[in-house]
Amino acid sequence: MKLIITQPNDYHVHFRDGDMLKSVVPHTSGHFGKAIVMPNLVPPVVNAEMASAYKDRIMAAVGADVDFQPLMTLYLTEETTKEDIDLAAESGCVHAVKLYPAGATTNSQSGVRDVTKVYPILEHMAKRGLILCVHGEVTDHEIDIFDREAVFIEKILAPLREKIPDLKIVMEHITTKNGRDYVQQSTKNLAATITTHHLMINRNHMLVGGIKPHYYCLPIVKREEHRLALVEAAISADPRFFLGTDTAPHVDGHKENACGCAGVFNAMNTMSCLAEVFDEHDALDKLEAFAALNGDLYYGLPHNQKKMSLIKKEKAVVFPEKIQVADECVTVFDPVRPLYWNVEDVG
Ligand code: NCD
Ligand code: ZN
Repeated sequence: MKLIITQPNDYHVHFRDGDMLKSVVPHTSGHFGKAIVMPNLVPPVVNAEMASAYKDRIMAAVGADVDFQPLMTLYLTEETTKEDIDLAAESGCVHAVKLYPAGATTNSQSGVRDVTKVYPILEHMAKRGLILCVHGEVTDHEIDIFDREAVFIEKILAPLREKIPDLKIVMEHITTKNGRDYVQQSTKNLAATITTHHLMINRNHMLVGGIKPHYYCLPIVKREEHRLALVEAAISADPRFFLGTDTAPHVDGHKENACGCAGVFNAMNTMSCLAEVFDEHDALDKLEAFAALNGDLYYGLPHNQKKMSLIKKEKAVVFPEKIQVADECVTVFDPVRPLYWNVEDVG
């Protein structure tokens, strides 16, 4: 069986920098036409000049004959100025600004402690037409890690949207039915990305029979009912839901550790995983909307000209367990089930 779709985009990736960047970028640029690139480097990407220099480093890692457009983001801090926003809006390379609640995830220590402090900047972004991407989790110690997304919606996101209704927001990597329902109930200026792994695994995969550090990511994977709610949203073709893989590589030494890092590296097998899930739900005809079209519509960008063909094989496709990064390894996402779909061609 063969499926041909418009070349997809990844509306949420972590490329890192240095040797890691060189090793992981080709896995994204080989399949996807565009990608929203997260700014959580050390130090973070906080202005258009840094974003443009980072874009150049990414482009140097993309193969010479490959068409790929990195869509850059800025890291919002309590020091971000209106001038930073103006320069970003005029840069042509910055497409969104990312809000990390301080302490929420990898390299978020420079993030925002009190969101009301950045309201004037968010109002200015709304005027300049820059999208806000949010990591939707509170960081209060007394809130259970499995409830942090739901509490974020109630305590941070709902008041913010009421105060600044003209700001276009993407709730990144939603992981719960609450997140899905909240986006479905909105009437404007709200969309959400969904990751590959949150469509495939639940918290049992991470915790039953021994702890699996390579399934640890943030927001953390939840119960099966939440995974099913995300699958329903992804296969619905509702334009408010689109792919953001959240591919977030860490070397094995940082994952298989007494205090392991959060992040799943799925750039290489995402399209095979998605085709499998959509096929299982008789929704292959909706894969293009989710992976290639909806994100463009929300970001106001043209669709890719190229097509991707995927083929369903008789025998399961085998992906490498790891990739090499300098003298270390990064483990590839194991989707727990055999994958029969494979990307045949992009052109
Ligand atoms: C991301 C990372 O490692 O940069 N980790 C993750 O678990 N998703 C950060 C993020 O997107 O939260
Ligand atoms: Zn991420």
